[in-house]
Amino acid sequence: MQITIALAKGRLAQKAMDMLEKCGIDCEEPRQYSRRLVFYDKKNNTRFIMVKPTDVPTYVDHGVADIGIVGKDTLLEANLPLYEMADLKFSKCRLVIAGYPEKRNLLTSSVKRVATKYPEIAKRFYAQKGESVECIKLHGSVELGPMLGLSDVILDIVESGRTLAENGLVIIEEICEVSARLAVNRASLKIKSAVLKPLIERIQKTVEER
Ligand code: PRP
Repeated sequence: MQITIALAKGRLAQKAMDMLEKCGIDCEEPRQYSRRLVFYDKKNNTRFIMVKPTDVPTYVDHGVADIGIVGKDTLLEANLPLYEMADLKFSKCRLVIAGYPEKRNLLTSSVKRVATKYPEIAKRFYAQKGESVECIKLHGSVELGPMLGLSDVILDIVESGRTLAENGLVIIEEICEVSARLAVNRASLKIKSAVLKPLIERIQKTVEER
């Protein structure tokens, strides 16, 4: 029985493959730089698809991929009914609200516009506070939002803090910690349990041992 693993291209991919290799999955093919999007570990009857991080939850939700490795931030934004089976404890960062230092002491209610790659998280975050804000969706370089007057603050991930610092911005409020997660399709877990359960257990064990 073949299983399909969706890997998020970019920052996460190498670490995800390191982890899978520790669990006995051969990632030699996907490690080779190429424009190919589908790779195999034929011995383990495993197919890999390399997709944009934001598309990982979509492929898993539709069952095209049985499992996906992706950041908690992306899962929160997608808000799909997937099983989150493990915190993989790598690619750690934080989801924060950031802006100019003078915004630090402002009341949340004075925030009118938020620039972000994560509009759904932003809407939920401010809705919980009873505030309604305009979420301006950007696809990158969101720090430009407050700098150019597009928004009052940004909601974004912070890893080293360098991008904020180099653009004169500071953390105003922390939302949550983020790390890579193992997302699993609900139906796959039942239908392919003979293959998926042992793999998930190996992954959980590998994470605990680190
Ligand atoms: C992310 C994020 C921040 C930066 C944070 O952007 O949106 O801009 O990384 O990392 P740091 O705290 O270590 O500086 P990414 O590098 O993915 O590029 P993007 O702005 O084009 O989305």
